[in-house]
Amino acid sequence: MNTAVLGLQYGDEGKGKLVDILAEKHDVIVRFHGGNNAGHTIYVNNKKTVFHILPSGVLHKNKLNVIANGVVLDPKVLLEEIESLGFTPNLKISSKCHVIMPYHVKLDQLREQKFHIGTTQRGIGPAYEDKASRKGILVEDLLNPSVLRQKIELALTEKNVLFETLFSTFGMSVDEVYNLYQAYGWSLKPYITDTTKLLQDAVKENKSILFEGSQGTLLDVDHGMYPYVTSSNTTAANIFTGTGLSFKTPVDVVGVFKVYNTRVGEGPFSGCIEQTNPNLAGTIREIGKEYGATTGRPRKIGWIDLDELKYAINLNGVTQLALMKTDIFNGFEEFCAVFDGFTLKFKGWNSIDDKNFKDFVQFLERNLNVPVKFVSFGPNRDQIKYE
Ligand code: IMP
Repeated sequence: MNTAVLGLQYGDEGKGKLVDILAEKHDVIVRFHGGNNAGHTIYVNNKKTVFHILPSGVLHKNKLNVIANGVVLDPKVLLEEIESLGFTPNLKISSKCHVIMPYHVKLDQLREQKFHIGTTQRGIGPAYEDKASRKGILVEDLLNPSVLRQKIELALTEKNVLFETLFSTFGMSVDEVYNLYQAYGWSLKPYITDTTKLLQDAVKENKSILFEGSQGTLLDVDHGMYPYVTSSNTTAANIFTGTGLSFKTPVDVVGVFKVYNTRVGEGPFSGCIEQTNPNLAGTIREIGKEYGATTGRPRKIGWIDLDELKYAINLNGVTQLALMKTDIFNGFEEFCAVFDGFTLKFKGWNSIDDKNFKDFVQFLERNLNVPVKFVSFGPNRDQIKYE
């Protein structure tokens, strides 16, 4: 069976750990949207590994990992991550991925100083903009010198005006960008292929595919808290656009969420306890190590919000739930949850074997109407209970 692992909150729900565990049961692991704005943290034997663009299944050397067409790819970051692995990953990259160019990163950083969306400043938004306005550079263009040069010239004709006149800074040189990016293309060449066909063939051969979501449902460009969202669709429907598989492909959807809520960047955040109880927010942030895996920014802390979870479950067609970071509340006397617009109090627990914990899971299942199949109680691979 195919499985998708999707975040039901604002990202950082613990999807990487789940993908790492579920990878063992699947043949192919696929990223289908977003870029290196994601930060997936995995602990193996107490060693912390953070991937930003590599699929989290890459540590399973016998599994095929795919970066599909819906992803925006920063070749520099990908090559650095491959280098840091110390082995050649079993990886294929779609020739149709759009490339994050240095002018995208620069534009994202300059805009952020003016508009304050709280982006990761990795060039994600500007790369998707160029994709939609048909000015983007595809991964396959990196291997075609004349097309690459022409597209960079076209892009910089426009972007340099913005840099020089709107932002009063230096423009970029076509030659420098071209030389660097055509070199990246040759380094990536062994990995580049038609992943649409590869994945369609995998389905025909009854191979099982694991789709690795990035960010979270509430950051979806259509269904999230616009404009405080990322620039891709983070929800289940984009699995198909982002890979080229038919929407009729059967997929089990695991919705991942933490026992509390976090958010980085600007925008509304229900159940936020930063103002009402800053000490408690600080405690949860420290115990839960709630600092951005990509940017290191402290994450805002809030209570779990069942109304938002219901919205996310409906959007994604979630069939199983994964409740993460339950150990962060070990020893807490009480905590809260937002439900039907009210803030309700619950008793804390010391472990997942406590009655209070079991009662809370029952409350979740009763009100969300989806079974909680996974319960994570620590950062390591083996600290998860599943049915
Ligand atoms: P962008 O995706 O870098 O354009 O940032 C847009 C919004 O999404 C900002 O609020 C970011 O903090 C947020 N964001 C992007 N990626 C992640 C993630 O992986 N986890 C949590 N928030 C993210």
